[in-house]
Amino acid sequence: MTSPREPIGVIGTGYVGLVTAAGFAELGNDVWCIDIDAAKVDRLKRGEIPIYEPGLAELVTKHRGRLHFSTDIADALEQARLLFVAVGTPPTYSGDADLSSVNAVVDAMPPSDQHALVMKSTVPVGTGDSIKRIFAGQGKEGFRYVSCPEFLKEGSAVSDFLRPNRVVVGDDGDWAGDAVVELYAPLDAPLVRTDIASGEMIKLAANAFLATKISFINEIANVCEVTGANVTEVAKGIGLDDRIGPKFLQAGVGFGGSCFPKDVSALKQLAGNSGYHFQLLNAVIEVNELQKRRVIGKLEKHLGTLVGKRVALLGLAFKPNTDDMREATSLVLSARLQAAGAHVSAYDPIAEGEARRMMPGLEFADDTLGCVRDADAVVLVTEWEEFKTMDLGQIAAAMAGNVLIDGRNALDPAAVRAAGLIYEGIGQG
Ligand code: UGA
Repeated sequence: MTSPREPIGVIGTGYVGLVTAAGFAELGNDVWCIDIDAAKVDRLKRGEIPIYEPGLAELVTKHRGRLHFSTDIADALEQARLLFVAVGTPPTYSGDADLSSVNAVVDAMPPSDQHALVMKSTVPVGTGDSIKRIFAGQGKEGFRYVSCPEFLKEGSAVSDFLRPNRVVVGDDGDWAGDAVVELYAPLDAPLVRTDIASGEMIKLAANAFLATKISFINEIANVCEVTGANVTEVAKGIGLDDRIGPKFLQAGVGFGGSCFPKDVSALKQLAGNSGYHFQLLNAVIEVNELQKRRVIGKLEKHLGTLVGKRVALLGLAFKPNTDDMREATSLVLSARLQAAGAHVSAYDPIAEGEARRMMPGLEFADDTLGCVRDADAVVLVTEWEEFKTMDLGQIAAAMAGNVLIDGRNALDPAAVRAAGLIYEGIGQG
């Protein structure tokens, strides 16, 4: 029965659910995708992909025959014994994860000793144990549970699924864990088979560590600014030490997205709830909040007061290659600029629709030149490829002023200066 091509269910068709479903379809599995949002299910049935994720639309189209969409969990239960859970776990006001969507799935499960929930959603450590207790209380003790955290990055989620660094399976050592291991076997990735709580912690610790790396290099960048060192050189110099590694050492205007801010705060909160004060994570969060605001100081250094000044923001999404605006630095930056009296124009190649909803009072442009026209200063917030290759001479000619803040150290300072602009990056002397 445990063939790698066994049919599976995926509950939740957001970034994680849809990529997981399409990825398994690519491996040859039939996938029953369930979502409570009927309009979304209808769109998916028509072949429309509700999110922007490179390669996803192609994969979903290629495997239309293997991907089945429905609003009824019974369809998945009938066809599959492994039900991947990929529903949202957003932060609550207290910083804890909101598990109401996960709990709704748990409650919807019937008594069965033929099925297992496979948790993809990021949940606090201890969630597996408490779900098993809930199952027992509901007379469903036969239902199995597996923690199988995801490590997909938005923008490269499809290739991350197909070429993972590792697969983590946290379980009770039963048929369900074996079946999940089988499912991932064709990917030939290093496997960490462990207990449920450790599986849950691996996910939170991985994101917290990566966020720590970013806040660390951002603080180094800030010290570089007052000491005359160049953070890009420093990152190269430390990253070649294979104990440190070169990745996630890109200084900038702070991390955002639906994962790092939420997961760092959830781990801090989880520790706090158990009586442990996680000091390092407090600093990681605070450094990130301050980092988002440092651009304001840089602008004031060159422009003086920002009242009445025109500032153009290039890039709004929390990172390139996504339309995701959740916790994007641009949200904090634009609100701070407006509060300081500046007039803010903005352009993003993909995220404009979502941004218009979240950022009232901004002037949205259709392209880079329209955005920078008559600006006193330009801030590169998200390092989309088209900004890295923009014609700096045209930018300089269109602007009223001459200040360019490179919030992602994505441009060549010499080229910017050669175009007659004042260049200021993050931590570059
Ligand atoms: C992150 C993790 O990288 C994934 O492994 C994980 O699966 C995912 O969260 C999740 O928990 O679902 P993601 O949020 O898509 O993925 O984005 P990242 O590429 O990790 O970037 C996060 C933020 O850090 C972005 O705002 C990015 O601009 C910033 N960043 C990243 C830096 O400022 N510097 C860096 O060197 C790297």
